[in-house]
Amino acid sequence: MSGRKFKFKNRFSFYLLAIGSACGLGNLWRFPYIVGENGGGAFLLLYVFLALTIGLSLLVSELMIGRFTGTSILAVTRQLTNQTKKKYYLLGWLSLLLSAVTLAYYSVISGWVLHYITQFVTSFFQADAIFYLKNISVAVLLQNGWLQFMLASVHLLVAVVIVVKGFGEGVEKRIASLLPMFGLLVVFLLMGSLSLDSSKEVLRFLFYPDFSKLNWSSLGHATGHVFFTLSLGFGTMVTLGSYFKVEDHLPTIGLRVTLVDTLISILAVLLIFPIAFSSSKQIATDPSLVFDVLPAFLISIKGGLIFGLMFFLFLWLAALNASVGLLETITANITEKRPDMNRTLAAVLSVGVILLMTVFPAFSGAIFKNIKILGRSVIVFFDSTLINVMLPLAVLGMVFIFFKIINENDHKKLFISNELPTSVAMHSHWIFFLKWVVPVVTLSGLLMLFVS
Ligand code: TRP
Repeated sequence: MSGRKFKFKNRFSFYLLAIGSACGLGNLWRFPYIVGENGGGAFLLLYVFLALTIGLSLLVSELMIGRFTGTSILAVTRQLTNQTKKKYYLLGWLSLLLSAVTLAYYSVISGWVLHYITQFVTSFFQADAIFYLKNISVAVLLQNGWLQFMLASVHLLVAVVIVVKGFGEGVEKRIASLLPMFGLLVVFLLMGSLSLDSSKEVLRFLFYPDFSKLNWSSLGHATGHVFFTLSLGFGTMVTLGSYFKVEDHLPTIGLRVTLVDTLISILAVLLIFPIAFSSSKQIATDPSLVFDVLPAFLISIKGGLIFGLMFFLFLWLAALNASVGLLETITANITEKRPDMNRTLAAVLSVGVILLMTVFPAFSGAIFKNIKILGRSVIVFFDSTLINVMLPLAVLGMVFIFFKIINENDHKKLFISNELPTSVAMHSHWIFFLKWVVPVVTLSGLLMLFVS
């Protein structure tokens, strides 16, 4: 069944990589402003519900495609094309294209993080560090296209070096093993933010859902973000699944990854909102939220400069780890399609193409400043087209591939575990979800984006 030479030696390595690729800027940067944009508590509830139902079902199915075929998504869709003479490989390419575009966009935001790191470092050498840091803001950064492009290039360069050094050789694992420390730092900062006066108001905003705040497009925003944060539809989870050993129980693994990812997103929201509320009495609902709100808070507390530096450093490592995951997916797919091409060449060529793509998000606030597409700035339009429109389509493609490639007996065998008697019933719920709930909810989400 599985043709891979490399297999995870222990389950822990897998968790580190899967959680490492799920938890990134999506949780800490994107999620808080999406929650703000969609009115708080009711959206949070909708999101958590969707993550644990359709997100989890999809995660298990993607891991299973990889586990069952032992290859990456492009090879899977080629195999389907050969069997049926229909052009299924286009679906494989759609996932790869998405990974590339996402990596371009992701690198620009990771570049912002790098910028903040350099600012915190230089502040140590300033006579008045606080005054110095008060002047950094996303708005200023957005106007400087070249700076954003350069920072994104540095980020991509580091990612490509790690990928070329080779999967499974431990660099990613080492980065990922720092993430629990990041978790501790976040919890520590959280205690600070929750002790602010505004936290009561925030807890009400977050945990007393006001369903009237949801609008038609909220469903599409929630599903899009679930897919993005769990790295679904990109083929990454297929590649990771192909590295599994037979004994690993995919549904349990999927559940744990989903729970950790969801928990981190909730912590991020709990960290950011009390600070945002206390500083401006209103919630920023755009990409600048984390970048503008957090430093302002940090410079006001004791030892804040060190915390700030550590926070952005860890955030960058998390972003780097996710970027490596994306680039790894692209490289694995290309080398599987063209076995004569070596990994280094495949990775370097991909990064070259991706670098060209970063031009759009990088210059969106500068050269493309006056361009509005459907009333939105280029970067916001880029984000929502990618995550709310293209990603759901790729995810639906994945579900389709799953049912085409794995028959009932096989997915039963891989799902049901003798040690878990409930897995028999869970199996039929899972299939029901994949077959009906996922397509209906995803398509409704898509449709409602266009209605509103
Ligand atoms: N899930 C990541 C995050 O939340 C982003 C991401 C999307 C990703 N697709 C991926 C990471 C593929 C690694 C691989 O930030």
